[in-house]
Amino acid sequence: MKNSTEVLIRVVDLHKSYYDGETELQVLQGINFDIYTSELLAVVGASGVGKSTLLHIIGTLDRPTAGSVLYSEDDVFTLPDKELAGFRNKEIGFVFQFHHLLPEFTALENVAMAALITTPNHKTVYKEAEALLDYVGLAERCTHYPSQLSGGERQRVAIARALINQPRVVLADEPTGNLDRRSSEMVLELLWDLNAKSGQAFVIVTHNQKLAQQVDRVVRLVDGKIF
Ligand SMILES: Nc1ncnc2c1ncn2[C@@H]1O[C@H](COP(=O)(O)OP(=O)(O)O)[C@@H](O)[C@H]1O
Ligand SMILES: [Mg+2]
Repeated sequence: MKNSTEVLIRVVDLHKSYYDGETELQVLQGINFDIYTSELLAVVGASGVGKSTLLHIIGTLDRPTAGSVLYSEDDVFTLPDKELAGFRNKEIGFVFQFHHLLPEFTALENVAMAALITTPNHKTVYKEAEALLDYVGLAERCTHYPSQLSGGERQRVAIARALINQPRVVLADEPTGNLDRRSSEMVLELLWDLNAKSGQAFVIVTHNQKLAQQVDRVVRLVDGKIF
């Protein structure tokens, strides 16, 4: 599974600027790199350098000012918004620094949600969601609401949620940034383990030195470019 040389995502001459009146803030200034199938890639860089901006664009949550992102050679930004949303739901899993779980739904419902939208057989979806919660060590927490879970548990639910549609890539933006050391380590072990077993690519924005040392590859964002 590992050490793939097959390109999954090609980031080509990506630019992103934000505008405040007349002022242009050039955040990404010509980003080029490839993401391989099944690799565990870390993105590092100083605070405010544009890591989240880059991850959001790779995840199609935001469109670039110029340049393209190719998934298996298909330029995703040629898709209209509605189709892009469908593509994103199916192909990309997200884990954010703050879990973004929906407070009025249980852990199981949060995990199942993205698949319930597209799969008519809800019974199978809930079975799969249960299996994922079991896998992240939370079989006993299916009916708990986010407010009844610890920070680390919430983040593990968020990871299970990211996986429900078996995405080709999981994008994680500082997934341990808000956790204590022990919870961080559990979450990181889980991400390594998932990556090793699943064949899915993982792109993780991190400040965590330990993580950055144990991934397949690290890319560094400096002054709007990748090194
Ligand atoms: N929606 C936005 N509008 C204007 N400026 C933004 C927006 N999002 C991010 N920025 C600015 O872009 C720069 C990069 O932000 P971000 O991608 O969040 O960096 P990082 O994740 O590396 O800390 C920062 O200067 C930030 O203030
Ligand atoms: Mg960020």
